[in-house]
Amino acid sequence: DETLEIRASLLNWYDLNQRDLPWRRISGNCEGDGDIRAYAVWVSEVMLQQTRVQTVIGYFNRWMEKWPTLNHLAQATLEEVNEMWAGLGYYRRARFLLEGAKMIVEEGGGFPKSVCALRKVRGIGHYTAGAIASIAFKEAVPVVDGNVVRVIARLKAISANPKDVVTVKNFWKLAGQLVDPCRPGDFNQALMELGATLCTPSSPSCSSCPLSAQCHALSVSRQDRSVTVTDY
Ligand code: ADE
Repeated sequence: DETLEIRASLLNWYDLNQRDLPWRRISGNCEGDGDIRAYAVWVSEVMLQQTRVQTVIGYFNRWMEKWPTLNHLAQATLEEVNEMWAGLGYYRRARFLLEGAKMIVEEGGGFPKSVCALRKVRGIGHYTAGAIASIAFKEAVPVVDGNVVRVIARLKAISANPKDVVTVKNFWKLAGQLVDPCRPGDFNQALMELGATLCTPSSPSCSSCPLSAQCHALSVSRQDRSVTVTDY
């Protein structure tokens, strides 16, 4: 059905077109590698929350060079972490990373592996928990950011106020129904990537889009709108 088509087309597009980003190179094949990947996903997703990908790359590489694992980070001081964060803004995010790392290391059970366990870590919210659980540990949970809301709004031709709490809840539910149970991390990243590259707020590149055949907004020529109040 349509959900299966969306998953297959999106993942195929992602396999061929995904951007080469440093946190995607940290992959897990050995025992315990899931933790390294989780740590890298955590750092990158927190940095990406208010900062563009191109800016984050340099910060991410410097961070991982100084603190290559969670254990290294747990030994850092707030001054060091803030210094590394200089220019990224919202310094609270850096402090949460440090406090979270200390918490996880002190508890001694390795990186929390489910959304439920991740949410107990200081500073890890719905979005970050979903990203880590799906990308590093293959839990079939959704991840919803502004890009994902726009992509799903267009796919399903939903007009809603994106600032409304009910709307956001609804998109988490829709994204949860869409997420590919076999490759949840790639699926979530593909949705974000599609929103960032083709399914842009204005003038989306529908002719290159892997989901054009499934897109209800395109089918009624309402794709050329961004997510604003009562629009995509
Ligand atoms: N934006 C935030 N996180 C991302 C990710 N993992 N992939 C693509 N875009 C993103």
